[in-house]
Amino acid sequence: MSFGIDRGKDLDIAPGVVAISPEEFPPLPDAVADNPDAGRLDVRSWFPDPSLPFELEIGSGKGTFLVQQAALQPDVNFLGIEWAKEFFTYAADRIRRHRMTNVRMLHTDATEFMHWRLPDGCCRVVHLYFSDPWPKKRHHKRRVVQDRFLKDVHRILEPDGELRIVTDHMDYWGWMEEHFARWCAPDHTPRFERLPFERPESAGDGEVVGTNFERKYRREGRPFNAAILRRQPVEERDAEQESSRPGDQANQE
Ligand SMILES: C[S@@+](CC[C@H](N)C(=O)[O-])C[C@H]1O[C@@H](n2cnc3c(N)ncnc32)[C@H](O)[C@@H]1O
Repeated sequence: MSFGIDRGKDLDIAPGVVAISPEEFPPLPDAVADNPDAGRLDVRSWFPDPSLPFELEIGSGKGTFLVQQAALQPDVNFLGIEWAKEFFTYAADRIRRHRMTNVRMLHTDATEFMHWRLPDGCCRVVHLYFSDPWPKKRHHKRRVVQDRFLKDVHRILEPDGELRIVTDHMDYWGWMEEHFARWCAPDHTPRFERLPFERPESAGDGEVVGTNFERKYRREGRPFNAAILRRQPVEERDAEQESSRPGDQANQE
């Protein structure tokens, strides 16, 4: 699909530096069938200073959040994942033009990348803003927020790490709230704590985060909903119970 967002300009994405493509990764080894850790990549090594905290944005669109927030936090490494080629290209060109060394764009499916490639405990924050709502019931399985996704988020987050979510879509919000209620229940393993959303420093006056979609939907007068899920530690006893639980639902999507 062409969105024509480049307006006919040649965009320079600094391939292999700002714009990372999955062709640069080694293929997933056969061993992942038995050992999920066999395909992990240390994405922090893609940045000049890999020791900085690492944050991930899923579905970066034109990259507005990354450009605004990463400029205010040069001591944090940000990876934006975008599967639509035109948006990925546009965002990477924009990051290169701003000469930002703490932001990288990856062109792939973020949920699969998280599941197969991201190491445990690597990430401080996962940002998910105005994720596609897939309103038709038969397309709900395409929504980013699923049990498998939340399980992966929990695994890749640092202790006390956070998932930050904003949406304009009421039905998708209802779906998210059902998931949050289960994943924040006291007897759920692994578990999150739900907190009120806190606006990032880069949000403008009256904005929740200040992405392109937020600005567009605000003009249309749509209301927004937002939440933070904070990772809770897995007690050893719970971890044992979980690994012996037959037919783990969160793995079956
Ligand atoms: C509605 S747009 C929001 C873009 C941006 N976050 C904003 O608020 O302006 C959702 C974006 O997520 C991207 N996207 C959806 N699912 C994705 C996935 N699984 N992996 C990577 N990108 C995804 C879409 O291509 C689209 O650019």
